[in-house]
Amino acid sequence: MTSLAEDKNLQQKILDENKRVHALENKLYLSRHPEQTNFFQRSILNKALDSFCKILPANKKRIVDIGCGSGYVFLPMITKGYQMTGVDLSEEMIQALKEDLDKEKLSRSELIVGDVVEFSNGNTTPFDGMIVSALLHHLYDFKNAVRKFCSKVAPGGPLLIFFEPLRQKINSPIRYGLHKRLAEIEERIYKKEMKFRKIPIFEDDYEYSDYQRQFGGIDPKELAAILEEEGMEVLKISKYCARRYGIPAFIANSILGTANTFNILAKKRN
Ligand SMILES: C[S@@+](CC[C@H](N)C(=O)[O-])C[C@H]1O[C@@H](n2cnc3c(N)ncnc32)[C@H](O)[C@@H]1O
Repeated sequence: MTSLAEDKNLQQKILDENKRVHALENKLYLSRHPEQTNFFQRSILNKALDSFCKILPANKKRIVDIGCGSGYVFLPMITKGYQMTGVDLSEEMIQALKEDLDKEKLSRSELIVGDVVEFSNGNTTPFDGMIVSALLHHLYDFKNAVRKFCSKVAPGGPLLIFFEPLRQKINSPIRYGLHKRLAEIEERIYKKEMKFRKIPIFEDDYEYSDYQRQFGGIDPKELAAILEEEGMEVLKISKYCARRYGIPAFIANSILGTANTFNILAKKRN
C-alpha cells in the first residue's frame, strides 16, 4: 500500500516528467514518431476521423483535442473547418502547433497550456465532440481522467480515443516471437534513420512520462466499460499493429495478425 503523500509525489513526478520529455520532443515530435505518420497509420487516422465527423450533426463544430501535442489530430481537424480547442501540458508542443496555424486557422483555435484533468474539472461548456490521441498512457490515473472527459462531451457527441498501447495476453508465442523480431529489425533501421537525419532520440527518458506502459498498456475492454458507465455508447473498438514504418505495419497486420495498439469510437447517449 502506498501512502497518500507517496501517491501525490508520484502524480507530480509523472506531470513533471511529461513536461520535461515533451519540451525535448518539441517541434520534432512527429518526425521522431514515424509510427504515427507512416502511410498505414495515416490511413487508420483518416478513417477514424471520417467516422468521428459522420457522427457530428452538421451544425456542430466545436471540438476539443485533449492532449493535442504538436497537432497530429488538431491540424487535420482544423483543416476540415472545425472550431478547435487544444489542451496540452507542454508549452513547447503547443508552440510548435501554433507555428503551423495560419491567421484564419488561428482565429478558429483555442490553445490551452495545462493539465487535462484540471481542464476537465473546470466549468467549460461541453464540447460537440472530443478526441484523445496518444494521451491516456501518459496519465497517472487514466480511468478517473476518462470519467471526467466524458462529462465534457455534449449529448449525441462523439468521443474518439486514438492510438493507445494495447494491454493484452499473448496467445500465440510464435506470432509474438515473429512480431518481436520484426520490431527489432525495424528499431535498428529507425535508429539509423534518426542518426542520418540528425534527430536526437530519448530512449531512456520515457519511464515515468509513459506511465501506463509499466503495466503493459491499457485494456480497451476495461476502458469501454468505464465509457458505458459514464453514459457513452461504445460504437467500435479497433485493435491493430502500429509499427515505425508502413510496410512492416502492413506485414504485421495482414500476415502476422498481431496487435499492439487500439482505438475506441463512442458517442454520448442523448
Ligand atoms: C504522445 S503525445 C501525443 C500528442 C498528440 N495528441 C498526438 O497524437 O500526436 C502526448 C501529449 O500529451 C501531453 N500530456 C501528457 N500528460 C498530460 C497532462 N496531464 N495534461 C495535458 N497534456 C498532457 C504531452 O505534453 C504530449 O504533448
